[in-house]
Amino acid sequence: MNFVRRNYKQLTLFVGVCIVVLCFMINWSQTEDIYDYNRDRTRREDFRDGNHRSEVQKSGPDVTNSIGGAQKTEGSQQLADAQHRIRELEAKLRRLELRVPQRFPDVKFLNYKSRKRILVTGGAGFVGSHLVDQLMLAGHEVIVVDNFFTGRKRNVEHWIGHENFELIHHDIVNPLFIEVDEIYHLASPASPPHYMYNPVKTIKTNTVGTINMLGLAKRVGAKVLIASTSEVYGDPEVHPQPETYWGHVNPIGPRACYDEGKRVAETLSYAYAKQERVNVRVARIFNTYGPRMHMNDGRVVSNFILQALRNETITVYGHGKQTRSFQYVSDLVDGLIALMASNYTQPVNLGNPTEHTIEEFAVIIKELVGGPSHIQQVAAVEDDPQRRKPDISRAKRNLGWEPKVPLNVGLRKTVKYFSRELQRTSHAERNVYTPALAIDANKELADTHEP
Ligand SMILES: NC(=O)c1ccc[n+]([C@@H]2O[C@H](COP(=O)([O-])OP(=O)(O)OC[C@H]3O[C@@H](n4cnc5c(N)ncnc54)[C@H](O)[C@@H]3O)[C@@H](O)[C@H]2O)c1
Repeated sequence: MNFVRRNYKQLTLFVGVCIVVLCFMINWSQTEDIYDYNRDRTRREDFRDGNHRSEVQKSGPDVTNSIGGAQKTEGSQQLADAQHRIRELEAKLRRLELRVPQRFPDVKFLNYKSRKRILVTGGAGFVGSHLVDQLMLAGHEVIVVDNFFTGRKRNVEHWIGHENFELIHHDIVNPLFIEVDEIYHLASPASPPHYMYNPVKTIKTNTVGTINMLGLAKRVGAKVLIASTSEVYGDPEVHPQPETYWGHVNPIGPRACYDEGKRVAETLSYAYAKQERVNVRVARIFNTYGPRMHMNDGRVVSNFILQALRNETITVYGHGKQTRSFQYVSDLVDGLIALMASNYTQPVNLGNPTEHTIEEFAVIIKELVGGPSHIQQVAAVEDDPQRRKPDISRAKRNLGWEPKVPLNVGLRKTVKYFSRELQRTSHAERNVYTPALAIDANKELADTHEP
């Protein structure tokens, strides 16, 4: 009996010891798990915070000395590197996304029957890019052809990638073979420093280039509008200038490459109309201003605004009594579209008949910009026309068109544009101008009208 009781005691003791050892082991393994979990969490937090301390630094000599520890360290280092690289790529992607317009301006939907394929030569230039905006917003397919002599991709970048838009780098002195319904032929340098830079090329663009466009119109049966100029009147002896006035041009002066080039372009247009039955429109454009003008335009508006913005002397060539009339670019674009849509085939003046002396312009711009600039007269330039004012009764009668934008409204927008351009420091600063349909643009003008 005693023997049984002693064995029973020993058995109980043995079982007790086993239970204690078992409990100790369970407790120990849980502590290890918690330790591992905490270490992983700290590492994750470190990665998230951009803290790339190596595992070696953190875990101390006990861990790094073991092979398993070294492998873990290497793995987590690779993970940290990969996550760092991903973060760098994400930042780069965000920067790139900022450079691409997030969405296109809203364009009207036109069905197959009413949507036209329209070619705009010189569409990356000042006037051309505003015309492209209106045609795109109206829902047409627009093809811009430009050699980027004075035009910039920046002027049309907000349409790049749109299904209705195409940009072709091409010099119109070479033939072009495409299918279109309408052609707005604007390609030609327009400001004196640009067209005098390479007079022979200016003549070629306005003669050979125009022949190419009229030939294309003939082949595909397209309507073609030629952008002519008030320069065809030269230094006029008739004032204001009606379309019936034949002009007073010096054929061998420094401006002749442009003036005579445009006169030949008009002659060619009516020769193609008579001989080949090409449907032509001729717009005689007077001085135009607005955003996207070239910084080196060299004409009164841009010169005076830039001089005033840079606090430089505002220079008036000659006595300053010569007159100019300036139209805002949106008025011109409305006129071009109205002319193309009309049945009127004779040349039409498109300009603002409100006349100002150059001296007056200098004062208006100086006051608008503010700043300490003073106005100074310098020597007159050769062949500078003394008076320019369009007679727009033909446009009023046949197109129902007349300019709407007052000088102070247009000038304010232009000053804003030039001052932004002067402050621009990188390519990433995108073209901030957002085009709006003519209706919205007119509403915006009404909102900004001075009382
Ligand atoms: N802006 C004005 O005040 C004004 C006045 C009268 C007439 N115009 C006429 O209106 C049109 C547009 O003038 P703008 O002020 O926009 O000038 P702009 O210089 O800004 O635009 C002309 C465009 O034609 C392109 N171009 C020039 N030669 C070319 C060629 N050989 N092939 C392809 N592209 C070529 C230029 O790169 C530029 O994009 C011109 O025909 C100009 O004669 C303008």
